[in-house]
Amino acid sequence: MDSVIKTYDIAKVFNPGMPDQIKAVTDISIEIERGGITVLKGPSGSGKTSLLSLIGCMSRPTSGRIIVNGKDVAKLPERFLTGIRRSTFGFVFQHFNLISGISVIENIMLPLYPSDIKLSSIRKRVESIMENLGISGKKDFSVQRLSGGEQQRVAIARSLINEPEVILADEPTAHLDSKLSEDLKDIFVTLQKEGKTIIIATHDPIIHEGGFAGRVIEMRDGMVKEVTVE
Ligand SMILES: Nc1ncnc2c1ncn2[C@@H]1O[C@H](COP(=O)(O)OP(=O)(O)OP(=O)(O)O)[C@@H](O)[C@H]1O
Ligand SMILES: [Mg+2]
Repeated sequence: MDSVIKTYDIAKVFNPGMPDQIKAVTDISIEIERGGITVLKGPSGSGKTSLLSLIGCMSRPTSGRIIVNGKDVAKLPERFLTGIRRSTFGFVFQHFNLISGISVIENIMLPLYPSDIKLSSIRKRVESIMENLGISGKKDFSVQRLSGGEQQRVAIARSLINEPEVILADEPTAHLDSKLSEDLKDIFVTLQKEGKTIIIATHDPIIHEGGFAGRVIEMRDGMVKEVTVE
């Protein structure tokens, strides 16, 4: 398998050595197929978000190795990690993390700051992303004036602005009804056809059932319980 990410026995312990120590992730060894859709499923507290943020270089493992495109990132100095995070990953967060009071287009462009890129040089990219997600008509709206489904699409547009290879989405259907969730699956399939690798953490059966994902990794108590390959 051509893997974009491999983990070797990664663990994440919060508050190590303290009475409230929590093992969020315990000795997980997985591979993420390049160009595939992988779903992390499991009950609340099973470690999905923690694993997603380790994979996306947003947090560091307490132990173990994480290989991203052949490079061991677990112990890289922060400045290199930031570079890999920015060039490789696009994030769609559980609560969208959109900034109210600024417009849709400004939210979409947030990951580009701080940088010297001029709007004029990326206008085409921003416009085609908004067009594909059906939010062009809303580009100057404040995000608080959008519906949940529209906000979700703005969050996806923002995750795409850096042209990432891998999209990490945490509970992307949490605020969507079943129709909008199905639409969202179509968006992910389109992105996959464009060559993106997609990893979704969710306990929504709409996402992890029915053969949408090539690989479903089931988590329980911070560990991998089962891996199902479609
Ligand atoms: N920053 C943190 N500090 C301390 N404990 C944490 C932290 N983040 C997560 N945890 C703990 O780690 C465990 C796994 O949490 P995580 O958020 O990864 O689960 P999850 O599967 O994403 O759950 P949910 O489905 O509710 O989003 C939980 O027991 C949680 O309380
Ligand atoms: Mg979570």
